[in-house]
Amino acid sequence: MMQSRIPQSSQSGPHRRLDETVLRHLRHHWRSPVHDYSRGAFAELAEWIDSERPLVLDSGCGTGASTKALAARHPDCRVIGVDKSAARLGRAPELPDNARLIRADLPDLWRLMGERGRRVAHHYLLYPNPWPKAVHLMRRWHGHPVFPDLLALAGRLVLRSNHALYIEEFARALSLAGVIDVKVVSFETDDPVSPFERKYLASGHRLFQLTAELE
Ligand SMILES: C[S@@+](CC[C@H](N)C(=O)[O-])C[C@H]1O[C@@H](n2cnc3c(N)ncnc32)[C@H](O)[C@@H]1O
Repeated sequence: MMQSRIPQSSQSGPHRRLDETVLRHLRHHWRSPVHDYSRGAFAELAEWIDSERPLVLDSGCGTGASTKALAARHPDCRVIGVDKSAARLGRAPELPDNARLIRADLPDLWRLMGERGRRVAHHYLLYPNPWPKAVHLMRRWHGHPVFPDLLALAGRLVLRSNHALYIEEFARALSLAGVIDVKVVSFETDDPVSPFERKYLASGHRLFQLTAELE
């Protein structure tokens, strides 16, 4: 198997414009239009999403292998795996009845759920693209203008990454948003939940998990 590299960042610590960027996004409601393909995918799932059962989101689910694992971990919930890559979703495993996959843009989906007043019980962000170049701060979820909408989904947020700086910045952004119940650990597992977790473990990377209880 090809060894994967830990993302190299041009930053030596949290981005120097992290605080001002996050605070600006927390103050101003983001109004960019939602893509038609996300709206269509959301509409197809709306009835399922509106059920009384608690929801679990697997945001950036890739092939959906983690969605399957999470559906087994949360049998009383409905689990939705979301990814924008048709190619990855095309390699999905067979899913149990309490799981569905949709192809949508995450910032769209998070806002559509918020508009509908939907909250989640658990929100998994497993190995989001790290965007390690300083110039790409706003592509990281905590630096993106959608960050307040992500927080508004509430529930128990679980973020995993092999990029320590991403986790550190995310924790800082949460603290700027007034979220105090945040825990960061470095962890090991012999039962990887997703393909990227498996790949990083095989390459000997250190893995980090942030959990936050969102109001
Ligand atoms: C590094 S991969 C991790 C995949 C999976 N979570 C795992 O751990 O194996 C990041 C995933 O996020 C998806 N992604 C990135 N930006 C996205 C967006 N704006 N909307 C939906 N999916 C996105 C990519 O298509 C990719 O599948």
